[in-house]
Amino acid sequence: MAELTHEDAQFLEQARREFGTARTAEEVESLRVKYLGRRQGLVQARFDSLRSARAEERRRLGASANALKEAVEQELAAAQARVGRGGRSSERPIDATLPGLRPGTGRRHVLVRTLERLVDVAATLGFSVAEGPEVETEEYNFDALNIPSEHPSHDSFDTFYLDVASLDGGSLPEAARPGVRRLLRSHTSPVQVREMRKRTGWRRDWRRADLKDAPPLRVVAPGRVYRPDAVDARHYHTFHQIEGLAVDRDITFLDLKHTLHLFMKGLLGEGVSVRFRPSFFPFTEPSAEMDVSCPFCGESGRCAVCHGSGWIELLGCGMVHPRVLEAGGYDPERVVGFAFGMGIERLAMARHGIDDIRLFCDAERGNLLGFLEQF
Ligand code: PHE
Repeated sequence: MAELTHEDAQFLEQARREFGTARTAEEVESLRVKYLGRRQGLVQARFDSLRSARAEERRRLGASANALKEAVEQELAAAQARVGRGGRSSERPIDATLPGLRPGTGRRHVLVRTLERLVDVAATLGFSVAEGPEVETEEYNFDALNIPSEHPSHDSFDTFYLDVASLDGGSLPEAARPGVRRLLRSHTSPVQVREMRKRTGWRRDWRRADLKDAPPLRVVAPGRVYRPDAVDARHYHTFHQIEGLAVDRDITFLDLKHTLHLFMKGLLGEGVSVRFRPSFFPFTEPSAEMDVSCPFCGESGRCAVCHGSGWIELLGCGMVHPRVLEAGGYDPERVVGFAFGMGIERLAMARHGIDDIRLFCDAERGNLLGFLEQF
């Protein structure tokens, strides 16, 4: 290191003392500005003073100033390391000129938004919204819907059963009665019966003559449902449905078809086509399944969303079975009804061209937030 001038040596002495007694990162930082600041720093001032020095002195003074600067930088580094190691604030000084951190804006989940859209469209068609419990009884999930336990169709609505003894019966709807098995509902159809019973005032001791032909009923019932299905791109053990139910004196299958077509136009656009295929459900007769034309490929095929078929299976529907009307307190001789049940994930997939149901909620499949932020 070059020889320091007497003046610079004194200067360094003072700097050492000050850096040596600094206790916090803030103190060290203000010393850094004081000594090594680019504009007003004291070291810089030494360099500035060289300009007025005599030419033959300049070389010696310049070398001394450089050595001084290096020595002060070492003091600074030592002081920074010391206050950092002491567990005190060792953050880098705040640079107010950097762009700020943008606060994350939240939004509702794509399934919630799809559901809200469904409910809006249903409202324009005169349907109000109803809800039922996710923890159901066998009566509502099966028996009242004409699904006998020995019938093969029981299997397709199989579900998860709950150990009632481990539940707080008092917090369940209708406190757990002994012998009543609790389960996670495997579809939203139980809400059909719950709503009918609410409107008709049904009681367990009713006889035929007590059955009602009014009031007319139009509800949709959205909610979460469960099935012990093997998980793949199109199946998940927990998903969402929306149920539709209309009961009145003269409703026909044509009303069902027309209502569903209007529904689909409201959701997927005017150009959408629907097709009905005969099917079977114990709680409707006749029954059908409805497909919508794939919004991504028209009907031309070769498409990840509809697998090239041009159609997407969306829902089951039919005319409400007389036994179900009766279970709800309506007289099947005097009223008729239609019902439908649609998968909300399926619909969201059809609307947004999503080809794997697991993406909605399964963080293990990849970037859940990155996926959701697209909608
Ligand atoms: N509950 C049936 C299902 O989950 C769908 C359905 C609802 C069919 C109403 C007909 C009428 O598959």
